[in-house]
Amino acid sequence: MSDLPATMRKMTSEVKSNGTLEVRLSEVPMPKPGPGHVLVKVEAAPVNPSDLALLLSMADVSGAEVSGTDDLPVVTMPMPSFAMPMMKGRMDQAMPVGNEGAGTVVAAGDKDGEAMIGRRVAAAGGEMFSEYHVVPVALCMPLPDSASARDGASSFVNPMTSLAMTEVMKREKSKGLIHTAAASNLGQMLQRICAADGIPLVNIVRKPEQQAILKDLGATHTLNSQDDDFMQQLVAACVETDATIAFDAVGGGNLAGQIVTAMEMAQAGKMTEYSRYGSDTQKHVYVYGRLDLSPTVIPPGAGMAWGVGGFLLPHFLASAGAETRMRMAGRVLSELTTTFASHYSDEITLAEALKPDVMAQYNARRTGEKFLITMN
Ligand SMILES: NC(=O)c1ccc[n+]([C@@H]2O[C@H](COP(=O)([O-])OP(=O)(O)OC[C@H]3O[C@@H](n4cnc5c(N)ncnc54)[C@H](OP(=O)(O)O)[C@@H]3O)[C@@H](O)[C@H]2O)c1
Repeated sequence: MSDLPATMRKMTSEVKSNGTLEVRLSEVPMPKPGPGHVLVKVEAAPVNPSDLALLLSMADVSGAEVSGTDDLPVVTMPMPSFAMPMMKGRMDQAMPVGNEGAGTVVAAGDKDGEAMIGRRVAAAGGEMFSEYHVVPVALCMPLPDSASARDGASSFVNPMTSLAMTEVMKREKSKGLIHTAAASNLGQMLQRICAADGIPLVNIVRKPEQQAILKDLGATHTLNSQDDDFMQQLVAACVETDATIAFDAVGGGNLAGQIVTAMEMAQAGKMTEYSRYGSDTQKHVYVYGRLDLSPTVIPPGAGMAWGVGGFLLPHFLASAGAETRMRMAGRVLSELTTTFASHYSDEITLAEALKPDVMAQYNARRTGEKFLITMN
């Protein structure tokens, strides 16, 4: 620890009771790892939608005002008044940001961690938009020697979630999967997994160029939700794949309801006897993202054997058991630069991440525009 600087910079996000959101870089004392922990010098961390939910929440980035210094900027943005009652749990608390990243272990709290000093690791630490972060040894994933911090920065959130989707599919005995916002970074990983594992996958996107991305990855079913005959195409894809599980990142609007209805129509088509209640095959849409914040609409016509619920990776991992978690993590590591490769459109520094025009860009969450924060 002696040759480390006495302080480091760390990003926080705070909703203030005056109706603003303040994102700042602060200089704080260098943290010390305790027993069972190591200190990681963070080298790269991606800006994922899950980070934005905390970092920017629902703040109006177009109204951002910058103060502070070049090295320690402070950005203040107005929050919409309707959102403030939902912020009670985080009001007037400077919350650290950065769900995942990669870096090098530079200090350890005890003998267990000492063996890791000098190793490049990936970690899901919750404070990775910092120059250094203390992480439990058990939550550090040593990266292969050949892997750069850029290769390893996104090795947890999207890889483990896309793999978890196939685990849920098997657990619930669906023969295929449906996925929305499917040209996302995560969606491209899921397409590669399903192609390798022979899992029938129905990709739903909203633009022709997104269909092209997935077709280039070998997708057979890639539907555009904006097509006039989208619903007919969706039912046909459900008949062909027999999928009864969907993962929906959009969340709001009609899409989840259209998927439940299409799965029901495909299952009802196989019935040999009429039932006023529809098919008794269970169908489930897991809403795992909220790219559309409007209410989720489920129309009549979905039958009576369906469910729509939330899905969160940590909840899945807690229920999955150690053997499944280890198997998933092992696959991510061995296919880090192939199946689970992330592509970044922009590399920015911690301070650049607080420039309002840059914030507006990464907050748009557009296909192929993922930002990587690099600390050096
Ligand atoms: N629940 C969990 O545990 C968990 C874990 C990991 C990730 N996630 C979720 O997974 C999703 C994908 O993450 P990512 O990092 O792969 O995202 P990403 O690469 O940033 O891609 C986002 C995608 O969403 C599309 N999109 C944005 N708004 C949309 C809307 N209203 N309707 C339809 N499509 C829309 C974008 O398409 P355009 O270019 O057309 O805008 C883009 O293709 C996110 O929602 C994230 O929150 C959830």
